Amino acid sequence: MELKQVTVLLLVTLILPGCQGSVSLGATIFGITGAALYASFDKLRCTFYECCSPKSDWIKPNITALNNALDTHLHGQHLVRDVVSRALLGHLSNNDPAKALVMSFHGWTGGGKNYVAKFIAESIYKLGMRSQYVHIFVSTVHFPHEQQADIYKLHLQDWIRGNVSKCERSLFIFDEIDKMPLGMINGIKPFIDYHESIDKVDFRKSIFVFLSNTGGPDITREMLQLWRSGRKREEVSLKDLEHLVERGAFNEKGGLHKSELIQFSLVDHYVPFLPLERRHVELCAHDEIRRRGFTSSKELIKKVADELMYFPPENQLFSTTGCKKVAQKVSYIIANVQYDELFD
Ligand SMILES: *[C@@H]1O[C@H](CO)[C@@H](O)[C@H](O)[C@H]1NC(C)=O
Ligand SMILES: *[C@@H]1O[C@H](CO)[C@@H](O)[C@H](O)[C@H]1NC(C)=O
Repeated sequence: MELKQVTVLLLVTLILPGCQGSVSLGATIFGITGAALYASFDKLRCTFYECCSPKSDWIKPNITALNNALDTHLHGQHLVRDVVSRALLGHLSNNDPAKALVMSFHGWTGGGKNYVAKFIAESIYKLGMRSQYVHIFVSTVHFPHEQQADIYKLHLQDWIRGNVSKCERSLFIFDEIDKMPLGMINGIKPFIDYHESIDKVDFRKSIFVFLSNTGGPDITREMLQLWRSGRKREEVSLKDLEHLVERGAFNEKGGLHKSELIQFSLVDHYVPFLPLERRHVELCAHDEIRRRGFTSSKELIKKVADELMYFPPENQLFSTTGCKKVAQKVSYIIANVQYDELFD
């Protein structure tokens, strides 16, 4: 109902009872007006404050935007782009999904796992990571004590239930899930299982993303082998890495290890992040230099890449820290360049 109509209704309510003395008619109209006013206020509130309503534009999933972000800012992870983009499109475009979407990201440090989680949030919520519907849990920060696992588990269940009842389209990101106290993760199971609703709360539209380094060494070993046999990185397919999932490489001790999520196949997608090569680190350096407002040059990029370490020793193929330390190294190099310009 538009504001103008509400005003007219309001005027009618004020005038009518006086003219006809009909109290009940007045009360009825007043009731209708009240509801209309409330609806308008709600709509008005949604224009200024984030709200969950699918009619407002605070939650507007945009897969094109996600693909663009991944194409421009995520380097060396062709498998990730494909899986994540397809999985989200499938889940978001289905008005009646069978269960919550659960993706588990695995791989070497600095491969871009947190980055992709951020892009997902930005492609769904106008406020991105700042949205009140995005929840991040870092195991070492939120659940540091193994012996309190039972209490954490109850809190976490309350939070998930509370937050999803506020908004069905909620995003939960669990960082360092491999460091979560043993058994705690099973507390999430009811929410991501195939239930229509639990206590009238429907969890099927929510999204869970797990991040961990588990499987990193196995992925790397596999990539080295493929590289030695002459396979191009870009030609490696998900199928080439599938046996790692079957072998349980992504579920080594901690986190998902022995969890019911695995047992009941509740994880929809295992997403392998490949170890980054020097050329990818250089792309990250290029992005970072530009982000700081400086002109990127081959020389500057080389300086940043030289600051990092590579392995294995015989061919130095992969960066030990991926793109993780690039921002820090860029700061250091730019400061050095500025120092030389000032004092040399
Ligand atoms: C989705 O994102 C793309 C790229 O950022 C933009 O051009 C497009 O207008 C967006 N679509 C909607 C419906 O907002
Ligand atoms: C939602 O989750 C946050 C943690 O991200 C928690 O602090 C808050 O209490 C939860 N809200 C509800 C209503 O449960």
